[in-house]
Amino acid sequence: MSLLTELTDLVSQAFVDAGLDASYGEVVVSQRPELAQFQCNGALPAAKPAGRNPRGIAQDVIDRIEQDNRIEAASIAGPGFINITVTDTSLATHLQSTIAVGRLGLPEVEPRSILVDYGGPNVAKPLHVGHLRPAIIGESIKRLLRFQGHDVVGDVHLGDWGTPMGQLIVEVEARMPELPYFDEAFTGPYPQESPVTIDELEEIYPAASQRCRDNPDVAERARKATLELQNGRPGYRALWQHFRNVSIEAIKENYDELGVEFDLWKGESDINDLLAPLIERLVAQGYAEESDGSLIIRVQTDDDNRDVPPLILTKSDGATLYATWDLATIQDRIESLGIVEMIYVVDVRQSLHFEQVFRAARITGIAGPEIVLEHAGNGTVNGPNGKPFQTRTGGVKTLRSMLEDAAALSLSKMDARDLAAGYPQEERLSIAHLVGLAAVKFGDLSNHRESNYIFDMDRFTSFDGKTGPYLLYGTVRMSSLLRNAKEIGVSPGEIVPPTHEAERALLLELARFPEVIERAAELRAPNHIAEFAYELVAAYNRFYEACHVLTEEDTGRRAGWVGLVAHTRDALGRLLDILGIEAPERM
Ligand code: ARG
Repeated sequence: MSLLTELTDLVSQAFVDAGLDASYGEVVVSQRPELAQFQCNGALPAAKPAGRNPRGIAQDVIDRIEQDNRIEAASIAGPGFINITVTDTSLATHLQSTIAVGRLGLPEVEPRSILVDYGGPNVAKPLHVGHLRPAIIGESIKRLLRFQGHDVVGDVHLGDWGTPMGQLIVEVEARMPELPYFDEAFTGPYPQESPVTIDELEEIYPAASQRCRDNPDVAERARKATLELQNGRPGYRALWQHFRNVSIEAIKENYDELGVEFDLWKGESDINDLLAPLIERLVAQGYAEESDGSLIIRVQTDDDNRDVPPLILTKSDGATLYATWDLATIQDRIESLGIVEMIYVVDVRQSLHFEQVFRAARITGIAGPEIVLEHAGNGTVNGPNGKPFQTRTGGVKTLRSMLEDAAALSLSKMDARDLAAGYPQEERLSIAHLVGLAAVKFGDLSNHRESNYIFDMDRFTSFDGKTGPYLLYGTVRMSSLLRNAKEIGVSPGEIVPPTHEAERALLLELARFPEVIERAAELRAPNHIAEFAYELVAAYNRFYEACHVLTEEDTGRRAGWVGLVAHTRDALGRLLDILGIEAPERM
């Protein structure tokens, strides 16, 4: 049980004993740590309905909780706030018991089947900087909910079914008309080998969409090809399958480099067979109606104070669209995967799309009220000028080149600090790689998910301040202290009651762990984890300055401190893992 829960239970009981409602007893971390560790503000709202004076209630509660041996001091502040400080012994005992139970004080949850839809890369397009936020935020949310104990799967939801596919087909036909994919008389089998590599595909894609913009005839052919692909024309399907395979291979490599891992590699196309029966049902039951040849679902409600346009289910040629696929995908996830909660980590600019899809899913009964559908939108990464991040030549920067830059800059900053000096070159490079990744990920995750931020590689790779490298350096220092302790034969002992202010502060910081996790999970907000990880390292560094662990003469205290360091490193390791950040052994 967390310390806050323990204290809340104690204070709530005191409210009950004073004839008041238990709900007033909530204890929070104090806003003014110089005055007290914790506070309860319940006496103020309790006063009016009870017809009592808030300070009187506060005193009544204080008189009761003071009896408890965990309480060091309790006092009234201002109009009736209750300030609480716990004893050093109870702090130590509390921390020791969370170590014994494991999970760092985190309560058990009732596991739910959750799917996180993130990444959303598209066939034939290289991963660029714009893909960074959804990938690492989604990955972090997945790990966070998994750590809480939920059954979580991540789905990449590949963009593989729209007009771009028809454009690619038409462009490849123009360049290589002799291929069998375009010959309707051809009965197969089609070649095993892809006619295009990923590099060619990445060149063909922009050329194809440019040609469609320039030439209406080509655009019309691409439209037809898209429809025929969706309707199952064998040659087009076979060619598209090659596009898909070579793209997935390249995309996987990119996500691997980023340390982002998906359980499911499904895409927009996966639900194609569900579409016809679904559309038929929606028409038959009157949910879908015709409008200018298209089929639409109206999702506007009387409570709306803005226009929410209808969801377009099919175009006039019968082709299905982005929203249709997302709608059918919801049905598929519920029916075939048993998912009860779907979290979409996708650019906030798609919020209207998700609003329409979620409403349509509710209206049509695809998702019952027990199903959670949530768009956890992400902001964008901008370059130093506040505009979308670009390469020197003006193109969009690929993810790979950004990570290479980060590793190179990290190496020079390590050199400037004499870090990893004298290590084998191979190890130095692999440390620089981890530092670069930590820099990029922490730089991103420390911002609120919905904000846009300016990518500042120089600041992100700094070893000072609120950065990934600072956290890694902190972890490495903890590990090195633990290695040294082992060498002199000191093993981690039971946590001792703190005697230094910095030590007490570290214990209090560690006690916040469960609430931080819960809050971050509830808000789908990894920035709370990032912030807490930073504060934990800062608290550790102050402790390390004040308490000379390995030279401490009192052997019980020395072992206790080593135990505290081990516990801090575990907690930090867990937080970094949730952020998707890996630390080197040494540097
Ligand atoms: N591929 C889409 C894009 O590039 C993002 C997909 C997001 N996920 C979803 N289920 N719609 O905009």
